[in-house]
Amino acid sequence: MRTQVCIIGGGPSGLLLSQLLHKAGIDTVVLERRTRDYVLSRIRAGVLEWGSVELLRDAGIGPRMDAEGFPHTGTYLALQNRGFRVDFHKTTGKQVMVYGQTEVTSDLYKARDAMDGIVIHEAEGVTPRALDSTAPYVTYHKDGTERRVDCDFVIGCDGYHGVSRRSMPANVLKEYERVYPFGWLGILSETPPVDHELIYANHSRGFALCSMRNANLSRYYVQAPVDDPIEKWTDDAFWDELKRRIPEEAADRLVTGPSIEKSLAPLRSYVAEPMRWGRLLLCGDAAHIVPPTGAKGLNLAIGDVKYAADALVAHFRHGDDSGLEQYSQKALARVWGAIRFSWWFTTLMHRFPEQSDFDQRIQETELEQLEASVAAQTVMAENYVGLPY
Ligand code: APR
Ligand code: PHB
Repeated sequence: MRTQVCIIGGGPSGLLLSQLLHKAGIDTVVLERRTRDYVLSRIRAGVLEWGSVELLRDAGIGPRMDAEGFPHTGTYLALQNRGFRVDFHKTTGKQVMVYGQTEVTSDLYKARDAMDGIVIHEAEGVTPRALDSTAPYVTYHKDGTERRVDCDFVIGCDGYHGVSRRSMPANVLKEYERVYPFGWLGILSETPPVDHELIYANHSRGFALCSMRNANLSRYYVQAPVDDPIEKWTDDAFWDELKRRIPEEAADRLVTGPSIEKSLAPLRSYVAEPMRWGRLLLCGDAAHIVPPTGAKGLNLAIGDVKYAADALVAHFRHGDDSGLEQYSQKALARVWGAIRFSWWFTTLMHRFPEQSDFDQRIQETELEQLEASVAAQTVMAENYVGLPY
């Protein structure tokens, strides 16, 4: 098979890129290791920056997001039993959209189907080859036979554990990493959200977050040791812990119920540089991971995809390779912005194992300054609603 752009990975990055390129008249083939049902069963964060919202609209998947998503103009930050609101709209004139990543992925699959986009599932042993030539290709196995896709470019949208990044020579790749000494235990429950906005809580027992998917579907998290056995966290144990960590008036209003999903995820910051090598471009989790505090993961992926799509369209339409040449540098500038913000927000809100009384006072003082200073809130809000493209 021959195509112009072979995309490895059918998560949100790969699907969005294939959709944008197809709309611009560029052929793509997406190779995905898992089944569609598996991809759609993954539950991830749920906050879209406004730039992401606009790009998803451009990609043709605006209608359901606009009908069912919730624009949020601020968020609540709590410290022990009190707290304050950061108003995104007042400080930056912008807002965010609360709409689950699972819904974005499902909308993207429907849009790909409607355009007869080629997404090959259960592609095994996907291997990109000849990436430093002008005639790269990708081999894989499906139904017991080896197959080959010849192409002009390979785009690695295959997440942190994918094969694409590992296809770059070791002496080219530089990796940066911070692993945080705790995880997030998250549950989904068919209960009304405790508040109409998100609550991020710093508490001496550890961080907690109240989020949502819709009027009757809530998403809550508590910071927990990453090696805690999940069985230890019965629903009752989870609700008790959450109630202790959020302000009393919120705990009193909290409606609890059985969890319909429960998982414990580690937190890390990770960046791979460069994001292009020869005819290979990396997008999304294939090149970087952020801790979930601030929900930057999907938004960063969407930013990469925008730069990659613009660069590929300029190449195929106008023979202009400047976007491809600048891709890594442009994408990484934005990536490091979000890496810094999510590291800062994680460090400010969580309880670290070795945290001293001094460290604790510093966290409290920073939150007090954030409460008192419109300038400090503006910096936080600018990052939360999304740095410009
Ligand atoms: N061959 C083919 N497909 C692969 C391979 C492989 N060797 N390895 C991984 N994949 C697929 C995975 O099965 C997955 O469906 O690539 C896809 C990558 O999807 P994601 O991990 O969701 O990454 P991405 O599309 O970049 O989305 C970024 O997802 O992880 C969150 O926080 C992140 O919200 C952000 C978003
Ligand atoms: C979520 O709804 O899953 C969510 C929201 C905000 C975050 C992280 C996760 O910062």
